[in-house]
Amino acid sequence: VSPIKSIALLGYGVVGSGVLELINRNKKSNFEKYSEEIAVTKILVRNLDKYKDDIHSNLITDQFQDILDADVDIAVEVMGGLEPSHAYVEQLISKGVHIVTANKDLIAEFGDSLHKVALDKDVQLKYEASVGGGIPILRPVEECLIGNRIDNIVAILNGTTNFILSKMYSENMGYNEALKLAQDKGFAEANPESDVMGYDAARKLSIISSIAYEKNLSWKSIPTEGITNLDEQDIENAKYIQSKIKLLAMSSVKNNKVYASVRPVMVKEVSQIAKIDNEFNGIRLNGDAVGEVMFTGKGAGKLPTASAVYGDILNIITNRKNRYEFRRKKVENVEPYWPYTSKWLLRIASEDKAAMLGNIFKVFSNYPVELMNTTSLDLLVVVEVGNEEILNRKIDELMDSPIVHSVKPLICLDEESL
Ligand SMILES: NC(=O)c1ccc[n+]([C@@H]2O[C@H](COP(=O)([O-])OP(=O)(O)OC[C@H]3O[C@@H](n4cnc5c(N)ncnc54)[C@H](OP(=O)(O)O)[C@@H]3O)[C@@H](O)[C@H]2O)c1
Repeated sequence: VSPIKSIALLGYGVVGSGVLELINRNKKSNFEKYSEEIAVTKILVRNLDKYKDDIHSNLITDQFQDILDADVDIAVEVMGGLEPSHAYVEQLISKGVHIVTANKDLIAEFGDSLHKVALDKDVQLKYEASVGGGIPILRPVEECLIGNRIDNIVAILNGTTNFILSKMYSENMGYNEALKLAQDKGFAEANPESDVMGYDAARKLSIISSIAYEKNLSWKSIPTEGITNLDEQDIENAKYIQSKIKLLAMSSVKNNKVYASVRPVMVKEVSQIAKIDNEFNGIRLNGDAVGEVMFTGKGAGKLPTASAVYGDILNIITNRKNRYEFRRKKVENVEPYWPYTSKWLLRIASEDKAAMLGNIFKVFSNYPVELMNTTSLDLLVVVEVGNEEILNRKIDELMDSPIVHSVKPLICLDEESL
């Protein structure tokens, strides 16, 4: 008789049902490989009625106590949100149950404290699906790239915003139209705030950066700008300089200082990162031994996400241990400004474009300035400066003039400066 590993699903929605499907699909091959059977023995939902005709309805409960009382080896948390997920996971860890979760909100907020309890109870806590959905990224960084010092991460971590920006670029859609399409296709939530404001990407960036740099980077310390201020004119401007706008989650370590941000960036159309379109995600990182590596694929969806969850389940069953992240030193100060030389596109609204142009050349007299000759109502110039603090000082100087209404900067990065 083979040993049975008993799994409880906390949540039976998009991801939970995908996990169940993958467990059933892999039953035979898993048994052949490991002489072990994996079975879902309990499922927690909120609304029992919704699932009364489900073929697994005999396993479904709306009482967390039933999960606690059951004899389960691994609980898969795919409910989402902070509470009660946090409380449930903590109680299960305390009972000695291993945890797999796809919940980036939970890990970005409570990963540290949950790791402490997990270490104490000698149980494992895994969350590969929380960053990049189906893309294997956390374990490759933690295990395969362990011989590297990683100093730079550039990533598209939010499929919803990437989808919206792709549609604005390729089909000339407005922001609202593209958002609605994303919602209709099931990529965007009814309340898309966490995606479009960049918070979702910041949480994921904090998780992967913490592992890559072996430092504890809180998502709240990452300066975050979403895509809600972008309009069709910005997309046109990007096209004019053979670029696309991507919401990039970027972090780097230089001289022991950590820089991190989530912001819209103009990237050259020919660059690798620009080619990651629609709901796809991509993560590029640089290791001192391996050089540059790039991971791309589906960052969400039922089976892609379940694929990562299933991998974690197997990882626990085959007894591979966690390293315990909470021992990492907290990053006290995140550099809020882009610290490297780069170009910036300035979109300047002014009642007197000719006089304003004179101002610009005066303010940026020591820096390269290129005027973009478009039919745009705004004045468009590309400037190159040593870092973002210099840029901000120069923008303040421009804003001193009474003929300027607004200055909107967008960073322009090519493959080398990314
Ligand atoms: N969907 C993706 O592509 C994707 C990708 C990567 C990561 N994730 C993460 O995976 C998690 C789950 O996402 P999902 O898309 O599968 O969500 P979902 O389709 O909304 O499913 C959530 C499930 O959890 C149950 N649930 C929610 N709150 C509960 C509560 N308080 N008590 C008991 N059951 C509760 C729901 O039950 P009812 O149906 O009864 O309400 C439902 O079965 C989230 O953390 C999400 O960020 C999702």
